[in-house]
Amino acid sequence: MASHEHNSGNLHEKIETNNFLLIVLTLITISFGGLAEIVPLFFQKTLTEPIRGLQPYTALQLAGRDIYQREGCYNCHSQMIRPFHAETLRYGHYSVAGEYVYDHPFQWGSKRTGPDLHRVGGKYTDDWHRVHLNQPRDVVPESIMPAYPWLNENLVDDTTIGDHMAALRKVGVPYTDEQIKEGGAAIKGKTEMDALVAYLQVLGIHLK
Ligand code: HEC
Repeated sequence: MASHEHNSGNLHEKIETNNFLLIVLTLITISFGGLAEIVPLFFQKTLTEPIRGLQPYTALQLAGRDIYQREGCYNCHSQMIRPFHAETLRYGHYSVAGEYVYDHPFQWGSKRTGPDLHRVGGKYTDDWHRVHLNQPRDVVPESIMPAYPWLNENLVDDTTIGDHMAALRKVGVPYTDEQIKEGGAAIKGKTEMDALVAYLQVLGIHLK
């Protein structure tokens, strides 16, 4: 009984019997925990700086990346190799944060109907990708991946790529004025297939 009459006991009881106060104080307490975990991440160089040798996507690779998103490749493919033995055996070195700093938005994905693609760059020839994307079953008979034959027929949009690069520069991708100006000319006449293959071939190749 004595402790109930004590001051701190009264305070406790007030909080526990007042729904509103309890909710507000709980949220404040939890947000301190969240901030303590999240805020330091913004200041750790290994998480915010590009790994050595990482290059911004060229205009063609960037156009390919747009097609990757348009076609929803991320619905079946992740780009995130986790630091587990089974994954590094299959896909190579686990992914590190500094590999993604020029990715807006990142393409980590959340589902693996197909294999992870984060280190697919250089794994196959360009020709293999062309045949595979045109009709996966021509090279992998048991594949359930959809065919994307129209990529061979459509040309990439060379009118908007410069603006796209300029926008990416605003969020920190170090494109030069020249690269932005030349972007459209660099991809004029290229097919969507050219662009998507160029993108796939640089995935994950910078980590040494
Ligand atoms: C419905 C799910 C699905 C979608 C959507 C999909 N894929 Fe796949 N993908 C697969 C499966 C399953 C495999 C494994 C069989 C094969 O190689 O075809 C695969 C394999 C691959 C491979 C070979 C990977 C390796 O390491 O052998 C590449 C590259 C690839 N896909 C690229 C793409 C691209 C680019 C797109 C979008 C244009 C795409 N996929 C869309 C399911 C999908």
